[in-house]
Amino acid sequence: MENKTLSDIKINLVEHSKINDIDFENLSFGNVFTDHMLVCDYTNGEWNTPEIKAYAPFTIEPSARVFHYGQAIFEGMKAYKDEQDDVWLFRPDQNYERFNKSAVRLAMPEVPQDVFIDGLKKLLQIEKDWVKRGNGKSLYIRPFMIATSSGVIASPSLNYRFCIILSPAKSYYSGEVKVVIADHYSRAANGGIGAAKAAGNYSAQFYPTKLANEKGFQQIIWTDDATHTKLEEAGTMNVFFRINDTLYTAPTSERILDGVTRKSLIELAKRENINVEVKSVLVEELIAAAKDGSLKEIFGAGTAAVVNPIAGFGYKDEYFELPKLEKSFALHLKEKLTNIQTKVEPDTFGWTVKI
Ligand code: COI
Repeated sequence: MENKTLSDIKINLVEHSKINDIDFENLSFGNVFTDHMLVCDYTNGEWNTPEIKAYAPFTIEPSARVFHYGQAIFEGMKAYKDEQDDVWLFRPDQNYERFNKSAVRLAMPEVPQDVFIDGLKKLLQIEKDWVKRGNGKSLYIRPFMIATSSGVIASPSLNYRFCIILSPAKSYYSGEVKVVIADHYSRAANGGIGAAKAAGNYSAQFYPTKLANEKGFQQIIWTDDATHTKLEEAGTMNVFFRINDTLYTAPTSERILDGVTRKSLIELAKRENINVEVKSVLVEELIAAAKDGSLKEIFGAGTAAVVNPIAGFGYKDEYFELPKLEKSFALHLKEKLTNIQTKVEPDTFGWTVKI
């Protein structure tokens, strides 16, 4: 290992990269990680010097709070490579802001910008060769923070670990996605942590999603917990509904994650002269639209999923197949978005940031 200190970040590079062992054409989402990670600990009320070092297991006390009380948050971002081999981030400020909002909600310390953003840029400069181009390829970025203080007392930890790991990826879903509308379980409630990107929001969905999988659905569209009448989000992505030629997506709230892809698609749709309304769609409106043929599309939007068309949806005992469109809003917006992210089209919004 080569040891050097660049400004205020410690860097320990691996001697041998594993990059040549990776088949970048056949990657399933989130299973392969790059050579290095960034780690930064919070102790005695302050953030320590961040360190970039080999991606490897780390040791944590079995009594660490994260294992017992789930004090854990994360983000999902991507880096893209353009034709000139430059690497770009997409709206990193948005993920940084949301990460710290999640931190506050989970009683965790906010992460300074020089650790999150500058540390990430430095890590990406080191791992530049892992960012591949073409065919939907990108480098998925997973910043996360866990509570590391030992002791099973049910109160916020005093110590934390912030970490960034990187995983070469294509999109999250491959193949057809069918969804079922929730009529019993809930993802989030008012006053809860639904708007935070907290680990517990995901584990809470695993059991109902397993039940949905057994019935042939890949995902659940969550409804409001109080009445199960308003369509909200899909847990791994926000959701858009196209009824006639208007695109609807639920307003963000205490229950819904403020997705970066979601807000970017709203802006893009406006620019593309697509009528878009931020408004809750009711389950009964969706079913009526499916029955009278005015429901044209449903698609999910998220960093990992990108823009994912939904093939059909289930509700109680019924199943509604969606039409297969040649010119879908989903594919049009996906193309525009990924063209901006990969610098194929000019970024008139100022969303892309060179590392
Ligand atoms: C993302 O889209 O980045 C997410 O965090 C969703 C996750 C389920 C992969």
